[in-house]
Amino acid sequence: MRDFDENNITAAVIDRYKDTPDPRLKKIMTSLVQHMHDFVRDVEPTEAEWAQAIDYLTRTGKLCTDKRQEFILLSDTLGVSMLVDAINHRFAPGTTESTVMGPFYVQNPPEAEFGADIRGGAKGEPLFMEGTILSGDDGQPVANAIVDVWHSDAEGFYDVQLPELDEPTLRARFHTDAEGRYRFWTIMPRYYPIPYDGTVGEMLKASLRHPYRPAHVHFMIIAEGHETLVTHVFVDGDQYLDSDAVFAVKNSLIRDFTREAPGVAPDGKKVDEPWRKLQTDFVLSRARASVPQSVKA
Ligand code: BEZ
Ligand code: FE
Repeated sequence: MRDFDENNITAAVIDRYKDTPDPRLKKIMTSLVQHMHDFVRDVEPTEAEWAQAIDYLTRTGKLCTDKRQEFILLSDTLGVSMLVDAINHRFAPGTTESTVMGPFYVQNPPEAEFGADIRGGAKGEPLFMEGTILSGDDGQPVANAIVDVWHSDAEGFYDVQLPELDEPTLRARFHTDAEGRYRFWTIMPRYYPIPYDGTVGEMLKASLRHPYRPAHVHFMIIAEGHETLVTHVFVDGDQYLDSDAVFAVKNSLIRDFTREAPGVAPDGKKVDEPWRKLQTDFVLSRARASVPQSVKA
């Protein structure tokens, strides 16, 4: 076939995929072509705009290194990461909701004992966190689950953003005890901007969008027989809860980090300054097949 025009080109391109042996790939390519063509028909870009779009994506790719992933940040700020997350975590009511991983997780974080202090040299309001990891199956505690935690400091920086720090700080890997509990001391995190010195920042600025995320503590919980849970707990009252740059706030994940007077903490530690406390449990979903029902070929 020849003589393609704006009325027949979409069907012609889709037809080229008719013999794709992998049915999943066939569905993806068909849908991609359909939606891309619909987008172009809707926007009717000028050739200069199309060249600008290609240049934007090229520059986004060039910013990616083993330390920075500008495409994931673009996906995050366009709400695509949270849409993929929602589609892949349609868990039963009662299980803890998931949210984005973000770029600041570090593989193989330092192991820490139950009750450890992960502050390193970081200054800030002391925060005591503890709780239990529960199975959504039967509500029973999950012993020996891996609990990875990471969060920003009191100025909104992660350790990996501070070149002067050579030790991991405000991040650790815990294992739940026989009663499924985790416990640690840290400092209160602060709201912070996502990296906005690249192409994602350009897009935010051009759209008058701010780059901030509300204060939160990240958790990744890994336990045998259960889906891995990647989530955060957000600090109630934060000014950015309703305008998170990456659309990751869920009401069920907002917590009251209570203000405590100097005194004795639940672990028996004497604290001689004001401190904060959060006791919060996480409920894991039982492991299931990884492909979401509605997108199976
Ligand atoms: C974070 O919470 O660490 C994060 C998530 C998405 C984009 C940037 C940062
Ligand atoms: Fe974060």
